Amino acid sequence: MIRVVASYTLLYTLKGVSRLTATIVTFGISKGGCSKSTSSGITSYLLSQEERVLAIDMDGQGNLTSFLTGEYDICNVFEEKTVLEAIIEGDARPYIIRIQENLDLIPSNDFLATLPRHMYSKGLKLNALQKTLEPVMKDYDWIIIDTPPSLSEQTILPLSTYSEGGSHVVIMFDGSMFAYYAIPKFIEMVEGAKERYNPNLNTAGILFSLIDSRAKENEVMLESIEEDHPNLKFDTIIKRKASTRRLPIAGFDGNPELKNALEYYIPFVKELKERVEQKQPQG
Ligand SMILES: Nc1ncnc2c1ncn2[C@@H]1O[C@H](COP(=O)(O)OP(=O)(O)OP(=O)(O)O)[C@@H](O)[C@H]1O
Ligand SMILES: [Mg+2]
Repeated sequence: MIRVVASYTLLYTLKGVSRLTATIVTFGISKGGCSKSTSSGITSYLLSQEERVLAIDMDGQGNLTSFLTGEYDICNVFEEKTVLEAIIEGDARPYIIRIQENLDLIPSNDFLATLPRHMYSKGLKLNALQKTLEPVMKDYDWIIIDTPPSLSEQTILPLSTYSEGGSHVVIMFDGSMFAYYAIPKFIEMVEGAKERYNPNLNTAGILFSLIDSRAKENEVMLESIEEDHPNLKFDTIIKRKASTRRLPIAGFDGNPELKNALEYYIPFVKELKERVEQKQPQG
């Protein structure tokens, strides 16, 4: 494995291509509504307080796009200015928009549903996002990717994106039976991407979100996850909070309940950084 990573590094150095230094974190699970967009948006915001972040919306619902821009008319406002066009062109640069200092975004909209058709007609492979991001990877410390609730190209492409700075996955879990059974399928997909395109892909952990503290089955679910996937569960549990739910309405700037809304995410991001640091590929 070390040899494969080293040869990737050598290849990029010999080709004179920009170093692929950003640390990539993809949020995913094929079960809907497990807080992928909320968590990837808040994580992007928190990381950007100290480091350079590029957030990428790989879901045609455009929830991360709306969350970070406050714009809901995504079809018109971002017409032909999205991650779809970036992938087709193989270059992210013209499609990056500035959200605030240290925080950029590549938006999406409903037309992302046509991605498989474009990939087929243009002969693009599952490393298409990799090629798209190569020119900008050196410009960011973090690339945070939101994915849709499906095991489609939109999820496989981020998982197949290699970086010398490391490529990590956060698996979202809402404590439900449906999500519980989606986890092994997602892990299988991670293993496939790792084998084919992304030798240093690492599962950073499973993040419990939206846990209803009164739900009787929580303890059982926590134990089952520990047993099935030892050491993968993040210690932080994101509990349901009305202030967090209101963030896409109120935004981050001048939001009087921001501190409350971010309460569980601050320790999560700290834990994520520690886990990523431990798995950092040796240069
Ligand atoms: N910590 C939280 N407290 C309260 N509400 C939350 C929290 N996290 C997410 N939500 C709400 O739960 C719903 C689902 O969250 P979100 O859209 O982030 O999930 P998702 O996994 O991205 O969904 P999808 O699979 O459709 O993309 C949203 O209405 C969101 O506002
Ligand atoms: Mg979402």
